[in-house]
This record gives sequence, structure tokens and C-alpha cells, in this order.
Amino acid sequence: MKGLVQEIIADLKSYLEYLKGLGIVGLPVSEGKEEMVPSLEEVQKEVGDCRRCKLHRTRRTLVFGEGNKKAILMIIGEGPGYEEDVQGRPFVGKAGQLLTKILQSIHLQREEVYIANIIKCRPPQNRNPEPDEIQTCYPFLLRQIHAIQPQIICALGTFAAQTLLKTDAKITTLRGKFYDFSGIKILPTYHPAYLLRNPERKREVWEDMKQISKWMTDHVGIPARPADEDSHREKASHPVGENMR
Ligand code: URA
Repeated sequence: MKGLVQEIIADLKSYLEYLKGLGIVGLPVSEGKEEMVPSLEEVQKEVGDCRRCKLHRTRRTLVFGEGNKKAILMIIGEGPGYEEDVQGRPFVGKAGQLLTKILQSIHLQREEVYIANIIKCRPPQNRNPEPDEIQTCYPFLLRQIHAIQPQIICALGTFAAQTLLKTDAKITTLRGKFYDFSGIKILPTYHPAYLLRNPERKREVWEDMKQISKWMTDHVGIPARPADEDSHREKASHPVGENMR
């Protein structure tokens, strides 16, 4: 019983933090009215030509995010790199090409999901995002999530997983498990850029993606399509995703 109460308090706390991130500081009192959900266009307008943090000085283009506005699956990465900064679109460089293959390995096209990042502007020399940059940008990502209302989020890499789950735990510990995020499932996995440097880890990402695919089949009724067996074919001494290369 004590455990259950603690669990409810922890859930409530994380929901209140989520609301705080959305800029809601008082508890909404329901008067039978529908909750106002912002549209993605409204969120984008609010972000505007953002100059709220220092990254605006060095970025070329703000990368808001793109994809299906009603996506069931949302992909959240770290932040734009060189190519994303040039094109103004998320995951269009080498890591992005791998992400497309990873999605295809569970028979999803990029256009079916929504892709965004923890921060919307490229840090100089692709350095890690700094805490003040994440803190400034994160509320807008929360608003995007609120607008899209995905049922499941795949967090790519350390920064996405740690920020969304409010933890310092390592991605090696976090990956491959489901977490609750105010009623939305989150499953963290390795970042595709990390996979480019460590291809022997592709097998784990493949296992994680299969879990997402199964969850979508079981909970959302997405028709079961066999995951692409070629994607984890054994290559040389370690398993490398055939279609994820
Ligand atoms: N890496 C990310 O985390 N996001 C992108 O959009 C591109 C590369």
C-alpha cells in the first residue's frame, strides 16, 4: 500500500513538472470544458526566430522538427548538426540517414513519425548542449509533444533520455526499457551517431526498435508486420544490422 501511494505521488509530481514545463503553474480546474491543446503551428509561431539562448548567435537555421502532426511515434534526438543547421530539418545528415533505415527496419517511413530534438539550434562545433540551453529550449519541445500527443516516444541518446526522464543515469542503463512520461511511453535507445562510431551496438537498437514495434501493435493496433529479419543478420564476428548500415 505504501509503495502504491509513493508511486501515485511520484506520478503526480512528474505530471506537475510536465505542466510546469508547459508554462502551467496552477492546477487547471475542470469546468467540463475541453482542455486547450496548442496546435503545432501555434508552438512554431511561439518559438519564432528564437533568440532566447546564446545558440542563436552561431546557428544558421533553427530546426523546429518535422513529420506527421498526428504521429503515434515521436523520435527525439539531441540537437541539429551541420547538415541540419544548413537545411533546417532534423536528422538529414549521416546519422539521419541511419535513422531512416532504423525506422524502415520496423516498416515505418520517416513521414509517419514526428522527429524533433531536445534543442533546436546547432551548438558550435557540434559540442554537447549546455544545461542553460536545454532549460530554455525544453519547454517548447514539451509543447510540441502536447500538440502532437504521441503515444510513444523513442529517445535517441544520452541527452534526450536524461532530459525527458530527468535522470543522470547512463544510456547503457536506460536503453531498452519502457518508462512513463505523463501517460506517454518512452523507450530510450542509442543515438544513430553513436551507432556510426560503434556499429557493434546496432543489434541492441534493433532489439529496442522491435519492442517499439510490438508495443504499437499491441496497444495501438498498428497491423503487425514482421520486423525486417535482415536487419540483424550476423555479419563477420558481430551482428550488424544489414538494413541499418
Ligand atoms: N543528431 C541529432 O540529435 N539530431 C539531429 O537532428 C541530427 C543529428
